[in-house]
Amino acid sequence: MALLRVRIYPDPVLLEKAKPLESFGDKQQKFFDDMIETMYTEDGVGLAAPQVGVSLRVLIMSPQAKRGEEEVIVNPEIYEMSGQQRGAEGCLSFPGLSVEVTRATRIRARYQNRHGEWIDKELKNFPARVLQHELDHVNGKLMIDYLSFMDRQRLFSQQQFV
Ligand code: NI
Repeated sequence: MALLRVRIYPDPVLLEKAKPLESFGDKQQKFFDDMIETMYTEDGVGLAAPQVGVSLRVLIMSPQAKRGEEEVIVNPEIYEMSGQQRGAEGCLSFPGLSVEVTRATRIRARYQNRHGEWIDKELKNFPARVLQHELDHVNGKLMIDYLSFMDRQRLFSQQQFV
C-alpha cells in the first residue's frame, strides 16, 4: 500500500465534478486500499478521490474511525433526505478549519461497493453527515461553500487558505 498526497484547498482538482468509476479491477482495488491507508494515517473519517488528485466518484468513510470498519463507496447517489441539523465539520483539504454545516439527519443512498455491487442503504446522524460531506467532494463542492458571504470574507482575510 502507498500513501497518497492529500490535496489542500485551493488545488483546482477539488473544484471539479468527478467522473463515474466504471471498472473494478486490480488497479482500482489498489487505489481503494491506498485511499483507506491515507485516510487513517491522516486521522480522517472520510476521504474522497478528488482529495488525492483523482477526479472519480469514489469515497471512503469510517465514521467511527475504526480500522476494518471502513466502507468503499463508488458512484453514490442520495435519493431521499430528511431532518436537518447543524454540526461542525472538518476536512483534510482544509487543515485546522472547522465549519458549521446544516445537513440532513437521515438519508437513503444507492452506491456500488468495491466490487461493483449495488447497495441501497439508510444512514442517520453522523454517518449521514460524513456521506453528504464526501459526496459534495465528488461534485466539486466544499464545506466553505456553506459559509455566508461575510464568514467567507473573514476566513479569506485571515489569508489562511489563499
Ligand atoms: Ni472534506
